[in-house]
Amino acid sequence: MDRILDEEKKLEDEFELSLRPKFLKEYIGQNDVKENIDIFIKAAKMRDEPLDHTLLYGPPGLGKTTLAFIIANELSSNIKTTSGPAIEKTGDLAAILSSLEPGDVLFIDEIHRMPRVVEEVLYSAMEDFTLDIIIGNDGSSRSIKIDLPPFTLVGATTRVGDLTSPLRDRFGIISKLEYYNEEDLCNIIKRTSEVFEVTIEENAAIELAKRARGTPRIANRLLKRVRDFALVNGNGNIDLNITKDSLDRLKVDSEGLDDTDHNLLKSIIYKFNGGPVGIDALAASIGEEVSTIEDVYEPYLLQNGFLKRTNRGRVVTQKAYDHLGIDYQKSIFD
Ligand SMILES: Nc1ncnc2c1ncn2[C@@H]1O[C@H](COP(=O)(O)OP(=O)(O)OP(=O)(O)O)[C@@H](O)[C@H]1O
Ligand SMILES: [Mg+2]
Repeated sequence: MDRILDEEKKLEDEFELSLRPKFLKEYIGQNDVKENIDIFIKAAKMRDEPLDHTLLYGPPGLGKTTLAFIIANELSSNIKTTSGPAIEKTGDLAAILSSLEPGDVLFIDEIHRMPRVVEEVLYSAMEDFTLDIIIGNDGSSRSIKIDLPPFTLVGATTRVGDLTSPLRDRFGIISKLEYYNEEDLCNIIKRTSEVFEVTIEENAAIELAKRARGTPRIANRLLKRVRDFALVNGNGNIDLNITKDSLDRLKVDSEGLDDTDHNLLKSIIYKFNGGPVGIDALAASIGEEVSTIEDVYEPYLLQNGFLKRTNRGRVVTQKAYDHLGIDYQKSIFD
């Protein structure tokens, strides 16, 4: 079972890799972030210094990893990648840091999940490019200092609130990625169709963009599925009818909400009278992890006004009732 999942994940990763833009000018949308990073990169190059440590945060699938690789490319630097949970011991981090060459980019994904002891070693490495480590055991331990080459740390996280302030404060550049608007998503979809060598009609691309939850990863995944329907049920070209039909079959509604979103909203409506409901009770009632709800589902529902957060918990909005075709008044007084 695990092996099948691993294999699936590998294919998915390869798929994403093949679609990743390599340079800033191919990176669609996120204009504020892009313009700033462009300037900081140019300045760093002019001064012949490494780029300041950069933190990228925002919901999954918006292009943090993509941007980290682009930064390294634009700097003409090598990139080494790891992730918070993969660095278990201070020794693991020491090994990575001491393998860096001057100007390298070190990308740490899910940086909020780094163990605290490891994080503390990172402080001096980020601040003055030195590695302070303690070697030996209790009786005869001593601390040694090793100079590191200047490097740029790029950290990515979906949960910036989980970062400690000493770590956050050591990033010179902090950029938040936002959900994409329809136009940018439409352009991403057209770009991906070119990579796939499939033709897509303008109104079909717009429909896909509308239903992609503001997220390039979802847009690309849906496009991949719609392409299958177009090939088997049509002549391979993606038009509006095929798009609508396949998205309906995939249970992605007109606002891009899927089964889990529906489940979540309906659960609040029917089991908790529309809310407020605490996140733990909600998670238990729909059988999802609290972190999955908080990182993946909720941000989009909040941003688009289907859900509200109050200090007593989550509340479903009238917009959600209307969208789901549930009578607002009736359910309140039931
Ligand atoms: N601005 C963009 N232009 C074009 N394609 C993009 C853009 N942003 C993301 N993508 C595409 O979306 C996919 C997902 O992006 P990426 O893996 O960088 O997201 P992420 O923010 O790192 O997600 P996670 O939080 O899950 O790690 C990639 O395949 C990439 O090709
Ligand atoms: Mg990523």
